[in-house]
Amino acid sequence: MSKKHHKSGMATRLTNYGDEGFSLFLRKAFIKGMGYTDDALSRPVIGIANTFSGYNACHGNVDALVESVKRGVMLAGGLPIDFPTISLHESFSHPTSMYLRNLMALDTEEMIRAQPMDAVVLIGGCDKTVPAQLMAAASAGTPAIQLVTGPMLSGSHRGTRVGACTDCRRYWAAYRGEEIDDQEIVEVNDKLVPTVGTCSVMGTASTMACLAEAMGMMLPGSATAPAVYADRRRIAEQTGGEAVRIAGARIAPSDIMTEAAFENALRVLLAIGGSTNALIHLTAIAGRLGIDVDLEAFDRMSNETPVLVDLKPSGEHYMEHLHQAGGLAAVLHELRPLLNLDTPTINGRTLGDNLDTSVRIINQQVVRPSTDPIYAQGGMAVLNGNLAPHGAIIKQSAASRDLMRHSGRAVVFASMEDLAKRIDDPNLDVNAEDILVLQNIGPKGAPGMPEAGYIPIPKKLASQGVKDMVRISDGRMSGTAAGTIVLHVSPEAADGGPLALVRTGDIIRLDVTDRRLELDVDDEELARRREQLPPSPSTTGQSGYRKLFMEQILQAEEGCDFRYCRQAPTRRVPRR
Ligand code: FES
Ligand code: MG
Repeated sequence: MSKKHHKSGMATRLTNYGDEGFSLFLRKAFIKGMGYTDDALSRPVIGIANTFSGYNACHGNVDALVESVKRGVMLAGGLPIDFPTISLHESFSHPTSMYLRNLMALDTEEMIRAQPMDAVVLIGGCDKTVPAQLMAAASAGTPAIQLVTGPMLSGSHRGTRVGACTDCRRYWAAYRGEEIDDQEIVEVNDKLVPTVGTCSVMGTASTMACLAEAMGMMLPGSATAPAVYADRRRIAEQTGGEAVRIAGARIAPSDIMTEAAFENALRVLLAIGGSTNALIHLTAIAGRLGIDVDLEAFDRMSNETPVLVDLKPSGEHYMEHLHQAGGLAAVLHELRPLLNLDTPTINGRTLGDNLDTSVRIINQQVVRPSTDPIYAQGGMAVLNGNLAPHGAIIKQSAASRDLMRHSGRAVVFASMEDLAKRIDDPNLDVNAEDILVLQNIGPKGAPGMPEAGYIPIPKKLASQGVKDMVRISDGRMSGTAAGTIVLHVSPEAADGGPLALVRTGDIIRLDVTDRRLELDVDDEELARRREQLPPSPSTTGQSGYRKLFMEQILQAEEGCDFRYCRQAPTRRVPRR
């Protein structure tokens, strides 16, 4: 075992037994049980976070991607070694995937630290996985490159194109409104997810893939290639090769995820009409690098950023169409004057260099030119007011224009259970002009901030044809959902936020143009109600991850990360 190998590969992290030589000897003895030669073990080791799980169809192609990444690593002279981490699928993450995101971040970070590797390829895809992996990479500091599994293809139901999971919601709403029957709802269930891969619309998974590419943590062109395309395998092979290069060049995640890179990501989030969840995730990733996301400045950025991508849920198309229209590069070209072009990316070139050699828009129905946007500005707006002292979010591009300035009577549900019990009651006192309020679905409330912010239209109104109402909560909403829905109200109700004080019959005023969210109840009455509030949830009697979560979880404007994982902020984005 010559000393020259001590700087990389198996010889990284020599702390096991105090005796460096013996640690390496033992480590090599064990890994040789896998049949490796000394030559192989002298190469740069590229870890590959393998997030395959039989529960996770969004990651159903991970085995194939691991094989392609390995080929790329070996062609570049490295030794690839894959290792498992937690895999999170949105539908199989009780109580919520957000509750588990930070657990996946901890797991991934510590496995990167624990095992010898000179760089790591992070294979993620489903909503919470890419944020968890980028949070882990930011904290671990090891050279890292992201690879996504890619979107699923869309399906076809009775001649109509369908995809998960905007159409899941649309068909279920139609079934609730008795527009379609029992047989059709069973039939469409087979068609919504026709292949492996992530949701085929601009939900959180697609959004995070675009942001990872925009930030430079993923190869250019890699956000949109469908999971089952040969393009996806080629990207995986190239990612493996790039991992060997960044291992040699010792490119740390913080070298790529700079303030300028986060600004680009925030800009792209707005321009693609991306998921509101991504704002929380970007805040969490940035927070691990000491960068604070300034919501007010983000709102101003929103005012000067056109929405260009016509994908569901805001528009008409699916991810495969965005890929065919030129992918994210087509969007970046249109945004060029608004981007920081000299930011470094993971392939060693700047964002501007990458754009110089990429295609422009191929299909203007899918990616609009900046001169003819879908929505001139403001995909998302940040609201403030006495109901949301620390802010709230609304996705304007997916909301009804006639509800953007609306006063109405609050109809309050105290919890998800309360909502489930009463929302379809034919005797529920509710009208189409009312404002539905759901309390206690914030980070601590549920816990884990479920995507229950998409409050269903009460059945009695749905069957009268009511499609949208103003809905307000401290929870999140799936990136695949649409409506006039105010989310992330902070502080949350369970933490004593004013949302907890709303009673049925109160008047609430939403004014998106003025960015206000106000509860029309005088301060004395609010003070009286506050005295009657139950105390914040106690952690007495809790143990394990639940206790850790409840003690450490931060609010939405701090990314819902754990307090002890977030660095004290020294910088803010977007810079003014
Ligand atoms: Fe995995 Fe939508 S459920 S991406
Ligand atoms: Mg989702």
